[in-house]
Amino acid sequence: MTHTITLIPGDGIGPEVTEAVLRILTAAGVSIEWDRHLAGVLAFERTGSALPAELIASIQKNKVALKGPVTTPIAEGFTSVNVGLRKALDLYANLRPVWNLPGVPSKFEGIDLVIVRENTEDLYAGLEHEVVPGVVESLKIITERASSRIARFAFEHARGNGRKKVTAIHKANIMKLGDGLFLECVRTVSRSYAEIQYEEKIVDAACMHLVMNPRQFDVLVMPNLYGDIVSDLCAGLVGGLGVVGAANLGAEIGLFEAVHGSAPDIAGKNIANPTALLLSAVMMLRHIDEHAAAGRIMSALGGVMTAGAARTRDVGGTSSTFEFADAVCRAIN
Ligand code: NAI
Repeated sequence: MTHTITLIPGDGIGPEVTEAVLRILTAAGVSIEWDRHLAGVLAFERTGSALPAELIASIQKNKVALKGPVTTPIAEGFTSVNVGLRKALDLYANLRPVWNLPGVPSKFEGIDLVIVRENTEDLYAGLEHEVVPGVVESLKIITERASSRIARFAFEHARGNGRKKVTAIHKANIMKLGDGLFLECVRTVSRSYAEIQYEEKIVDAACMHLVMNPRQFDVLVMPNLYGDIVSDLCAGLVGGLGVVGAANLGAEIGLFEAVHGSAPDIAGKNIANPTALLLSAVMMLRHIDEHAAAGRIMSALGGVMTAGAARTRDVGGTSSTFEFADAVCRAIN
């Protein structure tokens, strides 16, 4: 069967890591027809919109997308395409599995946790204005609907994947109403999942626990901003942003992209690690029931990493993006 999937190569390292991943998907024998679209500055230059309507329509039609990172101008310019896509398509759950890939040097071993980040509101609602010169107000939106929905997603994920514990991350000691509502919703949902242990941690203390003893965590559920920050922290525990994949999921649509950004410091040098996007693509393959191909890629990746046959610089090697990708392709059988 041929799948039609929207492809957004993105910018910065996006086109390189996307091309590398496409080679590996082809080597794994999956038949995919890619519906390619621009986003961000490249789309803006060509169409006048950073998030063109045709791109949204393509994902709505195909229901599945693979996306490279897209640069967001800092403190000026168009609003984030990444946040815009998640909101426009109601991709409310950002699922980020963090675990030790075999053969990747890291600060800890035995980590196997999942971050479930609420993806549609919080400070990422983008509602901010200058009240008077020198004073800006940014609105943090927390709703019962979105908080209960992400809590149910986290507990269902835990139940469906044999996980034992869900930890809600919050700052309800300070934001008593906003984070208080989030916490209350997670607590209420937790009562329907008696077999899963439930605990709560304040975000600052949670960060300390994560760097001291990350193995105590299983599923972590949190509002958008904490999810963004804690994800990068967790990536740092297992070898960096080059090795953590992710999925943005809604009721019907799945958009798969790495946790990392467009990495302008290494863009165009053929040194970025395509593994993070590859792991996202593997999540995508499982989402579309291509389990055999997903398994072939994971064993090839594990084999290449463990043997040290090819590794990019961020994980201690000297291989280029495409040397690494080609080594994974050769290892697929
Ligand atoms: P970043 O994630 O792009 O890079 C942080 C550091 O990690 C850099 O030193 C980079 O070289 C390294 N890194 C990231 N991915 C790597 C990979 N695959 N292989 C090897 N090293 C890797 O974060 P930064 O620099 O803060 O953001 C750059 C741009 O990306 C910004 O415009 C930001 O808004 C955007 N961004 C986009 C995301 C998306 O499209 N989903 C997510 C996060 C950031």
